[in-house]
Amino acid sequence: MNDSIRFILNGEDVSLRNVRPTETLLDFLRLKRRLTGTKEGCAEGDCGACTVLVGRLIDGKLFYESVNACIRFIGSLHATHVVTVEHLAAKDGTLHPVQQAMVDCHGSQCGFCTPGFVMSLYGLWLSNDKPDRAEIEKALQGNLCRCTGYEPIVKAAEQVSLHRPSTLFDPLEKTRAEIIARLWAMQAETLTIASDEGRLIVPRSVEALAKVIAAEPTATIVAGSTDVGLWVTKQMRHLNPVVFINHLSELQSIVAGEYGISIGAGVTYTRAFETIARKIPAFSRLITRIGGEQVRNMGTIGGNIANGSPIGDSPPPLIALGAQLTLRSTEGARTLPLEDYFIAYGKQDRKPGEFVESVFVPYPVPGAKFAVYKISKRRDEDITAVLGAFYLVLDEAERVTDIRIAYGGMAAIPKRARSVEAELIGKPWSEATIEAARPAFDTDFQPLTDWRATAEYRQLTAKNLLTRFYLETVGAPAELKRFEEVA
Ligand SMILES: Cc1cc2nc3c(=O)[nH]c(=O)nc-3n(C[C@H](O)[C@H](O)[C@H](O)COP(=O)(O)OP(=O)(O)OC[C@H]3O[C@@H](n4cnc5c(N)ncnc54)[C@H](O)[C@@H]3O)c2cc1C
Ligand code: FES
Ligand code: FES
Repeated sequence: MNDSIRFILNGEDVSLRNVRPTETLLDFLRLKRRLTGTKEGCAEGDCGACTVLVGRLIDGKLFYESVNACIRFIGSLHATHVVTVEHLAAKDGTLHPVQQAMVDCHGSQCGFCTPGFVMSLYGLWLSNDKPDRAEIEKALQGNLCRCTGYEPIVKAAEQVSLHRPSTLFDPLEKTRAEIIARLWAMQAETLTIASDEGRLIVPRSVEALAKVIAAEPTATIVAGSTDVGLWVTKQMRHLNPVVFINHLSELQSIVAGEYGISIGAGVTYTRAFETIARKIPAFSRLITRIGGEQVRNMGTIGGNIANGSPIGDSPPPLIALGAQLTLRSTEGARTLPLEDYFIAYGKQDRKPGEFVESVFVPYPVPGAKFAVYKISKRRDEDITAVLGAFYLVLDEAERVTDIRIAYGGMAAIPKRARSVEAELIGKPWSEATIEAARPAFDTDFQPLTDWRATAEYRQLTAKNLLTRFYLETVGAPAELKRFEEVA
């Protein structure tokens, strides 16, 4: 059965032969299955009305994560368990504890957003026994409600966490072992699905992926589809063929080694979070500002790098930390400093047939200071106007022996502030040095004005972020400190 996408939808096995390369899960649910509990609000991953859970096997264990069905393609669902809001209530109509809590706490008014909130709360309930307020807010970052003001929904999340153990109440906990067996049985060789609108390919391994990309160098690679999804739903682009990689176990590894962290190109923000939080906490705090929970459950750092965007959030801190990128093709692997990957707007150092395999992030050396600041109009779920990342090493006399400063939103690519760095290196780490270095930003960057910020705002903000970093390193009040000093 190498010509069908197979997955479990609620309780039922689904096998699809005629799938468009970019057919979305939301369209499939609503138009083909009439599962209209899952709503369409924005069709771009912003509002959460389309939230469903997708369960997948990682190292033999089954994980359920909330995702945006509107930007999730059917081709990425092979051997997964898709759970919609219709699956929650018992057959006799008894509501699931998550639904009941929303009723009890008056968490719904017009009701349009409610199924999405229920599914996000359900995802939280499955993964966290007793979430605190911050964890609840983080889980709900990707859900918008125009009516309730959120407080009743947060109360519902608090109330439902009292319903334990979850096996007593939960359809997914009861069927876990059976679902794992069914998903195992769906593992397949490389799948190629042809439809009237083109082909989609689900390679079996990284080796198979390399062969597919060698044969189809213009194919669109899709990891989490949190960028590519919008090309389809907003720009109406026709993509053919499309190659899905988010299931490849070789790209899923995240290893904290002796010298740094190696992150596979298929590792989502959510899965990267814990390891990065343990080793480089300032970087992990940035991750909580990328998209909402659903976007972090799908989006990958590999995709954030590969797309070459000048406002992708992870490249500047990775460049400041001295990250190395590994690309693979049928010819083998090659590794380069991440900063060299970005050549010009829309142009990266990626040859035909190559794909991103992993990124290696060295640990800061003992005593180094590292910070990353994201400036956007909203705190949650907003795209960067300016992002600055700073890595600093001082000697015993408090002179700068190593400094890497990288910015997003300031140029056509994520870029180092080389002239500013040159002004700082070898100098005492002092206010006078910082003041003297600030004009060098005008040499490094000539930012654009767009709807996120004016050129003047960007330039001034970039300078001020350096001053902020300086102030934090020399003794700003503890509650303002964002930088990490490595012990
Ligand atoms: C609501 C919303 C909020 C967002 N907020 C943020 C934000 O705050 N900050 C931010 O930086 N981004 C944000 N994004 C953008 C997006 O989530 C990120 O860029 C994400 O990291 C992309 O990863 P992905 O796996 O989804 O990539 P995909 O969409 O699957 O792919 C992105 C690009 O990379 C290519 N690609 C992917 N993987 C590989 C690979 N291994 N090798 C070669 N090419 C590859 C694809 O062909 C495509 O060109 C947001 C997106 C949405 C929808
Ligand atoms: S419809 Fe708004 S996030 Fe999917
Ligand atoms: S209840 Fe109306 S949008 Fe949330």
